[in-house]
Amino acid sequence: MSEFSPLSQSADLLQIPQGTGFDRPRAPGLDSPRATSGPEAAASSQLAQRLAAVRRRTGELIAPLEPEDLCLQGMADASPPKWHLGHTTWFFEQFLLRQPAIAHLLGSYEPAPASWAYLFNSYYEAVGPRHPRPQRGLLSRPPIAEVLAWRGRVDLALQQLLSALAQQPAAAAAPWLELIELGLQHEQQHQELLLMDMLDAFSRNPLEPAYGDAPELRFQAAPPPSDRTAWLSHGGGLVELGFGELASNSGAGFHFDNEAPRHRQWLEPFAIASQLVTNAEYGAFIAAGGYRRPELWLSEGWALMRQRGWQAPRYWRDDAEFTLAGRRPRWGQAPVRHLSWFEADAYARWAGARLPSEAEWELMAPQLADAFGLVWQWTASPYRPYPGFRAAPGAVGEYNGKFMSSQMVLRGSCFLTPEGHERLTYRNFFPPASRWQVAGLRLAQEAR
Ligand SMILES: [Fe+2]
Repeated sequence: MSEFSPLSQSADLLQIPQGTGFDRPRAPGLDSPRATSGPEAAASSQLAQRLAAVRRRTGELIAPLEPEDLCLQGMADASPPKWHLGHTTWFFEQFLLRQPAIAHLLGSYEPAPASWAYLFNSYYEAVGPRHPRPQRGLLSRPPIAEVLAWRGRVDLALQQLLSALAQQPAAAAAPWLELIELGLQHEQQHQELLLMDMLDAFSRNPLEPAYGDAPELRFQAAPPPSDRTAWLSHGGGLVELGFGELASNSGAGFHFDNEAPRHRQWLEPFAIASQLVTNAEYGAFIAAGGYRRPELWLSEGWALMRQRGWQAPRYWRDDAEFTLAGRRPRWGQAPVRHLSWFEADAYARWAGARLPSEAEWELMAPQLADAFGLVWQWTASPYRPYPGFRAAPGAVGEYNGKFMSSQMVLRGSCFLTPEGHERLTYRNFFPPASRWQVAGLRLAQEAR
């Protein structure tokens, strides 16, 4: 296959997602515009504001960077900032602006060269081949100016599309509005990834560059933890989790397909820690020989830890910590961050406890002051489909479902997560050896 295969334009790629929060029937067809001021107009105008704000925010995130930083890729798992900007734009172009069904609403939108889809497709097999992920840092072209200009054209076309959809019957407009919402949620995920990836990249530079103070200030603004962690008990029994309606409703609004359906699960009585594990507590684990005691580790984790030379969380530097604000003194009371699942699991065993399951976490999170906004929390749960899960048909069905093996679920959100992106039922997931995401932990135990 040619290295620059043009995008497939086959009609079967145009699938209206179902189960990604897009549970409505397929669009019956888009009419000629008609004047309306109904709910569809309100939904479009609300989305137009969100679109502008989210897209602007991505641009703001690269403002502190130097031109050379924009192609920086510290490792194969990470991506350069310019790639994040291009990829999030490609997502809108591929799943909306290139779709023949809405071409007549778009006026004169000219898509990017087909070869750019090869560069900026991440993992969508149904869309076509793509540039190897570990080599994204080699993409010095297209230059940033062209990527930014493309972002501007896509923004304009999307705003134009929203205005046109406001004049369509609600049933016809809804699937497209939901795809735009998916694109915005996707872009917000990449905003966090961009910062995680910059931290990784800068951590490899002996000059220890600083991205800026803002993220770290947000982290430090959290109220200090109490002196003592309390255990919050739950009697167990038949409980509900996930997004949707069953006996009780878990909320409204957007959700990713992997959060649904809401379903029942049986839990034994348990207790969950009221606070996140802190740097000081994790330091005690290290001082007690945590990284030298095989009985605390799962076999795979022990082998990985020795092979990779892990001695502490990823960004610890003696008594300091490397952060987006550069090297900073490490605050003992701050939640520990940048641990692999194996380290979190070993710590829990050392502490005489265990990680909570995601069901336990979701049930108790409303009572926890630090469930969101500080660090993602590893759970004991493998990332698997909920009973009754169905991936959306077509290419967008590859968004979450195909990753449901060999990864563990993290719950909550972290200080790099864009505001408003967190949710009680949100399921983040990473391979258990990953440490560059902002991952920490809280403990759980059987009820005494
Ligand atoms: Fe993506």
